[in-house]
Amino acid sequence: MRILVTGGAGFIGSNFVHLVYLEHPDWHITVFDSLTYAGNEKNLEGLDPSRYKFIKGDICDEAAIDAAVADCDTVVHFAAESHVDNSVHTPWPFVNSNIVGTYQVLEAVRKHNKHLHHISTDEVFGDLGPNDPKFNEKTPYDPSSPYSATKAGSDHLVRAWIRSFGIQATISNCSNNYGPYQHVEKFIPRQITEIMEGRKPKLYGTGEAIRDWIHAEDHSSAILTILEKGKIGETYMVGTNGEKSGKESIALILELMGKPADFYEHVNDRPGHDYRYAIDGSKIRTELGWQPKYTDFREGLRSTIDWYKANEAWWRPQKEATEAKYKELGR
Ligand code: NAD
Ligand code: TYD
Repeated sequence: MRILVTGGAGFIGSNFVHLVYLEHPDWHITVFDSLTYAGNEKNLEGLDPSRYKFIKGDICDEAAIDAAVADCDTVVHFAAESHVDNSVHTPWPFVNSNIVGTYQVLEAVRKHNKHLHHISTDEVFGDLGPNDPKFNEKTPYDPSSPYSATKAGSDHLVRAWIRSFGIQATISNCSNNYGPYQHVEKFIPRQITEIMEGRKPKLYGTGEAIRDWIHAEDHSSAILTILEKGKIGETYMVGTNGEKSGKESIALILELMGKPADFYEHVNDRPGHDYRYAIDGSKIRTELGWQPKYTDFREGLRSTIDWYKANEAWWRPQKEATEAKYKELGR
């Protein structure tokens, strides 16, 4: 099996590459990544070149992605612009990479008759009220931000290519990931590294927005399960019942890092901030037998905090520029 991983130098993509490398010594992995500010080849250190190859390329580059797809059996498509705040500030890279880039991946998959798994997010469904039922595979799309709208667009393209052209593809929509190697612009690593810098964690608005946290390793194992057992044309929701408000998450991080419970501050809210995401992940469990490993958020957070403490050299180069951007936004 020759697997092509787009966006494999990012947070979740690299986690997935390490899992495949461990679980499938007979598979050859090619990472295709343009190394935006979010991609980092250091995430892929230590892989044996006889089983792994890196291609620096842009999924919007028709010739480059065509050649890479021609040379594999299966594509797992992670490459995307992924941060909501950036999308509200500068939407074009999101339209380009997430929609135009996915179009190029799909055309290459169609031309060379390859299998595709497309990685998406629960944000395509918009947000939930406090008592609404969780998202499931039949929830209508209702995205709010340029990020979620472009991910929704990419999902629609994949479905259209399955139905109109008969490509062999599956889709997964996962909730918010956390774990090692996540860029410090995102909520959990930002707060851990702010505390390490001696500064207070920053809560958008009232801090009541709810996210459904899943460890990246569990997301990766779910994708592998879909590759091995998923039914062509199907969509699978991936989540581990990890709903927590911003306030609750900060309280846990402060406790685990030995800081007083009031050591945080409220900052400007995000425009159009989605209130709540929550996933009903029963289909992948009942139909494919997938089970998560990290069922205790506190333990997952503890090991993530330990990782950021032990890997300052990894996150340090991103920190200053990230905080300068947030300062501009008053966040
Ligand atoms: P990330 O921002 O950490 O990584 C994205 C990677 O894609 C980077 O390595 C970047 O260099 C690469 N990339 C971006 N544009 C590219 C292009 N045009 N050509 C080639 N490479 C390009 O993102 P992540 O958090 O690892 O997310 C990966 C995927 O998972 C995305 O599709 C995202 O929508 C989805 N997802 C993320 C989450 C989450 O909580 N982070 C949850 C559900 C789904
Ligand atoms: P984020 O990690 O940006 O993921 P997403 O918005 O895609 O779900 O943010 C997660 C939640 O945390 C979201 O409700 C916004 C909030 N947030 C803060 O309160 N403070 C912060 O510094 C950041 C980056 C996010």
